[in-house]
Amino acid sequence: MSKKIGDVILDLQNISLRFGGVKALTDISFDVRQHEIRAIIGPNGAGKSSMLNVINGVYHPQEGKIFWHGNERKRMEPHMAAQQNIARTFQNIALFKGMSVLDNIMTGRITKMKANFIEHALWFGRARKEELEHRKKVEEVIDFLEIQHIRKTPVGRLPYGLQKRVELGRALAAEPSMLLLDEPMAGMNVEEKQDMCRFILDVNDQFGTTIVLIEHE
Ligand SMILES: Nc1ncnc2c1ncn2[C@@H]1O[C@H](COP(=O)(O)OP(=O)(O)OP(=O)(O)O)[C@@H](O)[C@H]1O
Ligand SMILES: [Mg+2]
Repeated sequence: MSKKIGDVILDLQNISLRFGGVKALTDISFDVRQHEIRAIIGPNGAGKSSMLNVINGVYHPQEGKIFWHGNERKRMEPHMAAQQNIARTFQNIALFKGMSVLDNIMTGRITKMKANFIEHALWFGRARKEELEHRKKVEEVIDFLEIQHIRKTPVGRLPYGLQKRVELGRALAAEPSMLLLDEPMAGMNVEEKQDMCRFILDVNDQFGTTIVLIEHE
């Protein structure tokens, strides 16, 4: 079921970001509406990755304003992005290469885990119930991305396109309302690109996830 494009949920106004003398972003403005897929395209070094890092609170622009659901967002730290249901993938795949697909996707649930360390260690009460819920969600993501056959495979052994898909899975496991994708199709062959494109459209369509994606020209 397709979700209708809604109100503006993220509004960036006149953003400028510098690293010493390097101007990464100069007076950039754009907004993102609920449920839309917003593509940001630009050449090498244009500041695309920096833009995503501004959105999720890793970089703090020297100038400009950011509004999130209509409220001006003051200094946001990266962990707050997860609380606000913003998830991302990285330009260079950020996964644990020696860990299985399943375990990597499970790491996407970490910010949602509430039981404390002792409860987890002893596997009782809240921890047990929670873990079952997390596993269920992770299995849903695995089904959705059609990677059942590789769920036990260490990520480092997979071809590039599948690693990118697993990384998408890690982000989806957090059940984001907004998904930031940094060059999700870069370096892929045609078939891998078609697959990734289909999954991105399906995420948007089935879950209503708002997507901001960056691509090279
Ligand atoms: N943490 C940082 N410290 C210093 N300079 C940085 C940092 N991050 C980015 N830059 C600089 O900011 C500019 C924009 O970089 P950014 O990575 O955002 O561009 P990009 O559009 O994502 O490029 P690419 O297409 O290569 O991925 C570059 O000149 C880069 O060197
Ligand atoms: Mg980049």
